[in-house]
Amino acid sequence: MENSQTNSPTTAIMELANMISVPMALNAVVRLNVADAIWQGGSNNPLSAAEILSAAAVGPGGDAENLQRILRLLTSFGVFEEHLNADATKRRYSLTEVGKTLATDENGLSYGAYVLQHHQDALMRAWTLVHEAVLDPSSEPFVKANGEGAYSYYGKKPEMNELMLKAMSGVSVPFMKAFLNSYDGFQGVGTLVDVGGSAGDCLRMIMSKNPSIKKGVNFDLPEVVEKAPKIPGVEHVGGDLLKTIPSAVDIFMKWILTTWTDDECKHILKNCHDALPPGGKVVACEPVLPNHTDNSHRSRALLEGDIFVMTIYRSKGKHRTEMEYRELGIAAGFRYFKAKILLDQFYTVLEFQK
Ligand SMILES: C[S@@+](CC[C@H](N)C(=O)[O-])C[C@H]1O[C@@H](n2cnc3c(N)ncnc32)[C@H](O)[C@@H]1O
Repeated sequence: MENSQTNSPTTAIMELANMISVPMALNAVVRLNVADAIWQGGSNNPLSAAEILSAAAVGPGGDAENLQRILRLLTSFGVFEEHLNADATKRRYSLTEVGKTLATDENGLSYGAYVLQHHQDALMRAWTLVHEAVLDPSSEPFVKANGEGAYSYYGKKPEMNELMLKAMSGVSVPFMKAFLNSYDGFQGVGTLVDVGGSAGDCLRMIMSKNPSIKKGVNFDLPEVVEKAPKIPGVEHVGGDLLKTIPSAVDIFMKWILTTWTDDECKHILKNCHDALPPGGKVVACEPVLPNHTDNSHRSRALLEGDIFVMTIYRSKGKHRTEMEYRELGIAAGFRYFKAKILLDQFYTVLEFQK
């Protein structure tokens, strides 16, 4: 009798050893537009692999059997729901709530670009070198594999730069909606700088919720702001956050401090401190590690992201705990620190006030 429910140490290690199939299968379904093929404007009707292939318009010769193998695996990881006929000979698939995050929304966004961004060749080359971050942290695995740091590498490759912008928008827009529903700390603020603001989505959303902000500055690397779309009331400014940050009443940053070392974070926060008036604050939304290690999706996503940072961005950049952020803020001269954990979100809201 089939007894696939049994778990044992040997099946657990086999699962872990084969785990690479999971992100690679996820990458494949994004490349093949599977989520949009099933979603079709919200119908989410269960489809067979052959029907998905024809709806995804991948061209002639698609192999439905191989696609079904991929869909079965990702069903086990909660991306698809499998619908079996009575004698278990035919399988059809719809999207779960997780799978729906891969379907393109009315703004042309989804989490799919983030999946693709993470699995580009240059990043994949770095992943086989994770152990090097232990043996020799003086340069990150990405640098060892590609000869230069990730941001300067992306900067020379327009397609990587554009994918990065799209990936950031796909993840940031849904988070910002949730964040702005409960955060009122920008009321009455007149000027706001978004440090490392990428395409400017976060700033656009903050400003539309807080009409007192008459001037928004989207500050990022010159090659990034060059590609950013025009947004009313927003000035795109190119520069380097390690050098100087434009002045503002308040500063917003999201997913920035994580990619820098402790000394660099102190330096960035000090640059923010210099750019703010007394009472001004930095509102930073960062992935913050829980003190205890557990197997929730949230904790795992945060722990995985920490290894991603170590491998791709800075071997001594990292996801930090709330206490570590408090200490960095105090070292940079801030007097007050507050953290608000949003339990269903990847990011924690950190406030550093001058
Ligand atoms: C992880 S992304 C976050 C983007 C955006 N804040 C968001 O959450 O969607 C980090 C951003 O920092 C920018 N960045 C990296 N190095 C920088 C530097 N030296 N000066 C200014 N921005 C930088 C990158 O171009 C990128 O847009």
